[in-house]
Amino acid sequence: MVRSPLFPRWSDTALRVAVAVTVAGIGGAILGPMIYVRSPFRTGVGTPVDQPVQFDHRHHVQDDGIDCRYCHESVERSASAGIPATEVCMNCHSQVWADSPLLEPVQRSYFSGQSLPWQRVYQLPDFVYFHHGIHIARGFACPACHGAVDTMPVIEQASPLTMAWCLDCHRNPQRHLAEPRPVRSLTHCTTCHR
Ligand code: HEC
Ligand code: HEC
Ligand code: HEC
Ligand code: HEC
Ligand code: HEC
Repeated sequence: MVRSPLFPRWSDTALRVAVAVTVAGIGGAILGPMIYVRSPFRTGVGTPVDQPVQFDHRHHVQDDGIDCRYCHESVERSASAGIPATEVCMNCHSQVWADSPLLEPVQRSYFSGQSLPWQRVYQLPDFVYFHHGIHIARGFACPACHGAVDTMPVIEQASPLTMAWCLDCHRNPQRHLAEPRPVRSLTHCTTCHR
């Protein structure tokens, strides 16, 4: 009578499979999040956001030649650029296209006094400090960070807003400027975390 082996033959295969699955699992657990944080799913790059009005930058900036600062009026002097109040829209739209159904939510907002619930496209976490005015004063134009907004039917995030992205410029800002200017390299943690 042949003694049965302590472990049957199939157990070898089972062990290999178990080891492979465990290794892949550990690898995946480490690599998965690393890939995810760098992917457009998490950074939001290229994902359009639903807005309460079909506002089209192409028509306003390209066709009508309205300056960015007419609507984002604090961009040169403040931390934030600002989203225009309904009153700014109504400067024109009390006359222009006043009967268009596309502008119905704008009129409702104006007469009710309830601001339009615009959704943010670019948004840093609260623990990060950013200041538009400084960047504009140092010679960076809107497309450096926001891409060609004047060609976008709907605003899409053009840069990842990760720390690595900020630092890539902060280490050597000169490289990102069209002409030489006196700019410092600010890489201390407290520049952006204060
Ligand atoms: C300086 C004038 C002006 C201001 C300010 C303005 N618009 Fe317009 N808007 C226009 C003109 C002109 C058109 C006609 C579109 C075209 O050029 O075909 C238009 C068109 C539109 C349309 C029609 C859809 C389309 O084709 O774009 C919507 C919706 C709209 N505007 C929303 C807004 C909102 C919301 C605001 C405020 C955030 C605003 N507009 C501010 C001048 C203005
Ligand atoms: C007529 C007003 C108007 C003008 C002119 C205008 N914008 Fe806007 N902008 C808006 C409104 C309203 C929103 C919010 C809705 C949206 O995201 O499309 C917005 C949103 C944005 C956003 C996204 C903000 C967020 O939610 O994070 C960027 C970036 C932006 N504009 C850049 C620009 C630039 C650059 C220019 C000039 C080339 C410009 N805008 C001209 C009205 C305007
Ligand atoms: C150096 C990069 C950079 C440049 C240049 C820049 N922006 Fe921004 N912008 C950002 C970042 C980062 C945010 C998100 C800020 C936050 O969440 O605190 C943002 C947010 C915005 C917003 C959302 C509302 C707000 O006030 O935060 C608007 C509108 C905007 N930018 C418009 C502009 C316009 C118009 C210009 C050019 C005059 C411009 N930006 C130039 C990086 C930039
Ligand atoms: C394209 C280049 C560029 C990008 C991208 C950029 N910055 Fe800057 N940033 C600069 C330059 C240049 C200065 C000013 C250096 C100087 O003062 O000479 C500056 C200054 C600052 C300051 C200093 C403000 C102060 O009080 O002096 C802060 C805060 C800041 N950046 C945050 C950020 C953050 C956060 C991001 C990413 C979301 C970012 N920046 C992306 C180039 C950039
Ligand atoms: C030029 C701006 C800038 C500087 C300088 C900077 N950070 Fe950040 N940091 C950011 C931004 C933007 C984020 C949020 C986006 C992200 O998570 O990548 C961030 C996120 C972080 C986070 C959260 C990470 C996470 O995964 O959520 C930590 C921790 C951090 N920074 C630490 C530091 C330390 C430590 C330093 C100095 C060695 C530093 N930062 C310098 C811009 C900056």
